[in-house]
Amino acid sequence: MKVVTVIGARPQFVKAAAVSAVLRTKHTELIVHTGQHYDPQMSDIFFEELGIPPADFYLGVGSKQHGEQTGEMLAGVERILLGEKPDWVLVYGDTNSTLAGALAAAKLHIPVAHVEAGLRSYNKRMPEEVNRVLTDHISSLLFCPTDQAVKNLALEGITRGVVRTGDVMCDAFRLSAARAKERNVGKRYQLAPNSYLLATIHRAENTDDISRMKQIFQAFARIPAKIILPLHPRTRKVLNDSNVTVSDNVQILEPVGYLDMVWLLQRTALVLTDSGGVQKEAYLSKVPCITLRNETEWVETVEAGWNVLTGTDRDKILAAVAHYQNHPRPDYIENLYGDGRASQEILAAMEESGP
Ligand code: UD1
Ligand code: UDP
Repeated sequence: MKVVTVIGARPQFVKAAAVSAVLRTKHTELIVHTGQHYDPQMSDIFFEELGIPPADFYLGVGSKQHGEQTGEMLAGVERILLGEKPDWVLVYGDTNSTLAGALAAAKLHIPVAHVEAGLRSYNKRMPEEVNRVLTDHISSLLFCPTDQAVKNLALEGITRGVVRTGDVMCDAFRLSAARAKERNVGKRYQLAPNSYLLATIHRAENTDDISRMKQIFQAFARIPAKIILPLHPRTRKVLNDSNVTVSDNVQILEPVGYLDMVWLLQRTALVLTDSGGVQKEAYLSKVPCITLRNETEWVETVEAGWNVLTGTDRDKILAAVAHYQNHPRPDYIENLYGDGRASQEILAAMEESGP
């Protein structure tokens, strides 16, 4: 098979690292990097650390309004697909790069394989929800990480090509756990295990609403512990341009590479995040998570008692921190996101389906 993989944002590099390693054992893969993320700490570091082969095509689209960014990617991917004529286009998740890759392929009648299909927040104000719904409806193979994702697709009438594979983020996490152990993150930032909380913030609904940002940082100021915050450039920009106060217990870092992130996750007392991937990685690290959103796609972590949705309500955040600090951790359900073999399942499904 000849597969064109379209990626461009940080979480897609992590996911593609797992799948590409398996895919390339038997097939030809060409990587298109849209350039949606371009800072070295948001892009290059993932290719280097995770052994992702350099992109065959770099579109260099960069940061733009949604329409302009997605449109430029669409035109760029289309040009490549017309020249390469692949058997499959492989896309991941729910970013603008995902939608552009899928749409370019579907219009050229090239089958789309969507990794992380069927996730829903049922909040159409999220750009990601729009991207994932549209992508699912034009995909030929839909790789679902969870049973819930399969059900969500069925509710929209999508049953053909749906494969429950488990989550490739679980594959990536397992592949990197041993290497992460060797990192000297503790020394570098003077962190002892369980002595800090780990936070990430980048979701548009939070960063684009100063009152929500203020609530988050007011809550952080009242947490009597060090909070490590590897900061997404989007959030750094907002903090620089606004009067949101960051308290002294919050230690801001540049975005970290994946191996350092896994190190930090495995030793933190708690996670506070509005990220999708980090909610699951907290669970895989057996660390409770407080999600700074009003809904989540990863409902299994909430049902299992390892994740709580607080939105940005200061009191709810503080109550959740106190709850997790004062209660024993819930029972752990193994393999909630699969057994680390989702990438193999994906490859098998693609092979079975043709060309
Ligand atoms: C994107 C995805 C989001 C995903 C996130 C992962 C969309 C609509 N959103 O959000 O689903 O969770 O990636 O991190 O696709 N910036 C830089 N350097 C970079 C990248 C971004 O400075 O390398 C800054 C720019 O100011 C840019 C802003 O971050 O305008 C937002 O970047 P963008 O890619 O548009 O969206 P994300 O918030 O990263
Ligand atoms: N991540 C990372 N360094 C950071 C923050 C996140 O390596 O400083 C990893 C994280 O562990 C996960 C992925 O990036 O694997 C998630 O990306 P992000 O939170 O940006 O996007 P989302 O999952 O919300 O789409």
